[in-house]
Amino acid sequence: MIKKLLCPSILSANFSKLFEDIKEVESAGADVIHCDIMDGHFVPNITFGPDVVAKINEITNLPLDVHLMIESSEKYIKNFCDAGADYISVHYENNVHLNRLINLIKSYKVKAGVAINPATPVNLLSEIICDVDFVLIMSVNPGFGGQKFIPNSANKVKQLKSLIKQNNTDCFIEMDGGIGEENIKMLSETGVDMFVCGASIFKEKDKKEKIKKFKELIG
Ligand code: DX5
Ligand code: ZN
Repeated sequence: MIKKLLCPSILSANFSKLFEDIKEVESAGADVIHCDIMDGHFVPNITFGPDVVAKINEITNLPLDVHLMIESSEKYIKNFCDAGADYISVHYENNVHLNRLINLIKSYKVKAGVAINPATPVNLLSEIICDVDFVLIMSVNPGFGGQKFIPNSANKVKQLKSLIKQNNTDCFIEMDGGIGEENIKMLSETGVDMFVCGASIFKEKDKKEKIKKFKELIG
């Protein structure tokens, strides 16, 4: 069985003390640091690039999960791998040569994932499912932290589990957006393996307590 991983998303961290915030969630028991890369084109927001990821990698021992919400992802894969990414996900919707891109990520010995937006059906992944290490189901429209969970996302986990089974493969399932105390246990029971939580951790006064609680709930 795959170990369940709690992945705080630093999109909701306090950027004026980003490294302190990361150390705080690390010491509280977070498993992975989720880094949202946005370019103002694929999504209507801009964040940071490989140089910041490399600095984050210097200050934490935790694996880094890099979620690319950018155009021309292929141009930046090497930079993010060199920066210390352990997982990289690219979106289905804007990457025409997805098979090539997934293989490029894997060629750096980095775990490769495909991300799908809320309106993208799971069955479109049938020809890539055997090539990816993980699938990221977006449970909000990408671009911003602190949005409301889209309930149908839980059904997409069930559909994905059956697609994985049909193909006799063993990729794991990540979910991102609107996850908190009210739905994290249900999502774990439904089959999510990696839980990305932004606002529900970083906007809390007692992050340590929240992380402890979430880890208990995901089991
Ligand atoms: C949204 C990002 C998420 C975001 C989730 O585009 O991909 O990782 O940080 O934030 P919350 O948990 O606040 O919905
Ligand atoms: Zn994300």
